[in-house]
Amino acid sequence: MTTSCPSSGPSARNGADCVVLGRLIDFAGDPAELGRAAVRDIADGALALRGGRIVWAGAARELPVDCRRAPRRDYGRCLVLPGFVDPHIHFPQYRIAAAGGRGLLDWLDRFAFPEEARYAEADHAAAAAETFLDLLLAHGTTAALVFSTVHEEAADRLFAAAERRGMALAAGKTLMDRNAPAALRDDAESGLRASQRLHARWHGRGRLRYAVSPRFAITSGAAQLAAAGEFLESHPDALMQTHLSETQEEIAEVGRLFPDCIDYTDVYDRFGLLGPNSLFAHGVHLSARERERLAEAGSTVVHCPTSNEFLGSGLFDIGPYSPEAGGAAAPRLAVATDIGGGTSYSLPATLGAAYRTAQLRGRRLAPERAFYLATLGNARALGMEDGIGRLEPGRYADLVVLDPRATPLLAARDALSETLADTLLALMVLGDDRIVRASWVSGRQLHPKQAGPTGCGS
Ligand code: GUN
Ligand code: ZN
Repeated sequence: MTTSCPSSGPSARNGADCVVLGRLIDFAGDPAELGRAAVRDIADGALALRGGRIVWAGAARELPVDCRRAPRRDYGRCLVLPGFVDPHIHFPQYRIAAAGGRGLLDWLDRFAFPEEARYAEADHAAAAAETFLDLLLAHGTTAALVFSTVHEEAADRLFAAAERRGMALAAGKTLMDRNAPAALRDDAESGLRASQRLHARWHGRGRLRYAVSPRFAITSGAAQLAAAGEFLESHPDALMQTHLSETQEEIAEVGRLFPDCIDYTDVYDRFGLLGPNSLFAHGVHLSARERERLAEAGSTVVHCPTSNEFLGSGLFDIGPYSPEAGGAAAPRLAVATDIGGGTSYSLPATLGAAYRTAQLRGRRLAPERAFYLATLGNARALGMEDGIGRLEPGRYADLVVLDPRATPLLAARDALSETLADTLLALMVLGDDRIVRASWVSGRQLHPKQAGPTGCGS
């Protein structure tokens, strides 16, 4: 066990800039695989932070001597977790949640595309980026993989706003060269060049990453998907994000557009878009063959339950993604909000929707597994697990503090909770942004905006 906070140099008076106290919860792996051993729950815990990172984590009574004089932030019985990671969300849709359409394709035409066209205006995008990132933080989300619009400058504004906050953000300019309004279309060549310029400007700068982002096979033709594949080949540490197998109507249209492909997954496969850095949103209607191929490639399927219920896309079956599924290969699983098809920015509320979807499918999503997915699981899907996802020395101090008694109903419910699973399930099913007491990024409390009286986290 570490008994001291490693010295930060000759000028340091303390081994820590700041100490956060509370009930520490994190996960060493998927509880569905590792059982109880995956869960760490320290009732009177302490995190020592220095230089934006965690330098010590454990029981408060064991806090190293050289960290004891640091300013403190005491969250009492609140839960301190690694900040939530949202692996699929649309920045330009930040204010169109709850726009009612007749299914995905109608919703895109009537709501998403007209709203995204406004991002041709860089000032609009800049203001939206501030609001969008503040909304993420207000809901406890400290890292994300984000679709921007087709406009290069809108992506620039988003990256710049994330950089100012010190956030771990991966994002990309949407590639879309057909079946969309003219104002939102690029072409294979111009889309590739813009992606390359954005990658050169932002990828690896601070905590930012680039994600090549073909929207889906309906709005990108063969030449553009091939260009995205080339991009991925020449930038192997970049991410790839797209949509896959969300609705039956979409799948039928992809079948008409790519008649030579075996199935929807095969379309992306033929253009080199499957791989360990590739995240496919939805995957509601995948066949066993598609899941096996995605698993073989090391890719991730991102379950977006509030979006699937709101748009009426279908009931995702979590069964094949559970270790007890009987040995059949499954892709990595992540869980996301998919704002604005999704209806909540809250990862806990999204986990609640995933829980209900699983129930309707005759499956079970244990609350500990759900919170593992929203933290370390999603961080792994983004290839960010070395920096975030756990409360471990060396990781960034990206934290969310949750109050299990945030509302009168939650307080009453909490009085009956006996186990950690009870507490987490209540937060998933009854929680929203009111449960978030604070969000910290790189050792600074960014939500609410004012730090505590000791200056800890400012
Ligand atoms: N498929 C292609 N684009 C989108 C989008 O913006 N939202 C959702 N939910 N699905 C999509
Ligand atoms: Zn989406």
